[in-house]
Amino acid sequence: MNIQTQIQLKPFNTLSLDVITSHYMKVQSQNELIEALAFAEENQLNVMVLSGGSNMLLPKEINALVIHMDIQGFEDITEDAESKTIRVGAGQVWHDFVLWTTSQNLYGLQNLALIPGLVGASPVQNIGAYGVEAGEFINSVQVYDRYSKEFRSILGADCHFSYRHSIFKDDPNKYIIVSVEFKLLKQPQLKLNYGDLKNAVAEDQTALNLQNQVIQIRKAKLPDPKEFPNVGSFFKNPVVDYSIYLQLAEKFPNLPHYPQPNNQVKIAAGWLIDQSGWKGKKLGVVGMFQKQALVLVNYANANLEDVQNTYKAVQHDVYAKFGVSLEPEPVLYNELGLIRTHHVITEHTG
Ligand code: EPU
Repeated sequence: MNIQTQIQLKPFNTLSLDVITSHYMKVQSQNELIEALAFAEENQLNVMVLSGGSNMLLPKEINALVIHMDIQGFEDITEDAESKTIRVGAGQVWHDFVLWTTSQNLYGLQNLALIPGLVGASPVQNIGAYGVEAGEFINSVQVYDRYSKEFRSILGADCHFSYRHSIFKDDPNKYIIVSVEFKLLKQPQLKLNYGDLKNAVAEDQTALNLQNQVIQIRKAKLPDPKEFPNVGSFFKNPVVDYSIYLQLAEKFPNLPHYPQPNNQVKIAAGWLIDQSGWKGKKLGVVGMFQKQALVLVNYANANLEDVQNTYKAVQHDVYAKFGVSLEPEPVLYNELGLIRTHHVITEHTG
């Protein structure tokens, strides 16, 4: 067992925050996971699971055992005329996995190309882009249940996938994901409903071209974390009741919106932030990206406090103008490696 102490997590979180953890272990198998958990228990340390670090907000110092998930591997599970089910290690890089599925003529995930992070994180917030969510193709998730202390498999249908949500978010301490099974299609059924995509693939309607177009669109809009450290969309798109949407639309007829089930409407956080004057605006070393106002960028050695100052100011201004609360998408941790709830504005504070 290789437990390291006083490790810098800056290279392992895409917002590039300076973070020192008291204990750290890279875990490459289920056995190593058990060893790591036993070490944490003996030493009375909390456990914080680190995946691709592309959806995390971390404090300067963490006193916990950071388990860096690095379980690799692909395994064929079943196959029929229409589909093939593959089990993928939680530590595989998501984008590489998507490229691999396309090269194997397996379809479904092409719209999700270039999303940063690892396969093990994909079910947690049910990653989604360009009209597809990972949950649509997840057959099951293999987990270690920290309460019953056993490995087990949870069917996709029991993960309760919804917009950027699943059971893994309801109780983040219960499960550690070790692999994910995807049921992928053998015949392409391209999903082209999202705005720019239909035109982009008009000439060449293959899955490979769809994947390439998604990569191009993302590259044009979203900053590369290596150049501009970020966590993708910083806020969720708010989902509001239809009546609230109608009130907003009366004042702001151009508000981009997407009807949802149950008489609800999803509205574009990027537009709200843009219209509040935050596109390309900075507060200190943290700001909202010039080409996509929904992406918060660490421009120079920011710490968590700098990030919080900026995002709270954005929340404040959007609330003041539209009366809409923005909820951050990345997960916020405290000094003990535990998940904290985000600050959300629910009434005018002055
Ligand atoms: N908009 C603006 N100004 C901006 C940004 C956006 O006016 O600065 C407008 C756009 O013109 C558009 C609308 O807002 O009318 C929506 O913008 P966009 O199509 O760029 O998508 P998004 O709602 O900003 C969501 C996901 C992305 C995903 C894209 C494509 C969330 C929180 N974000 O972004 O996911 O890639 O749709 O499906 O749901 C992520 O979660 O990290 C992420 C990148």
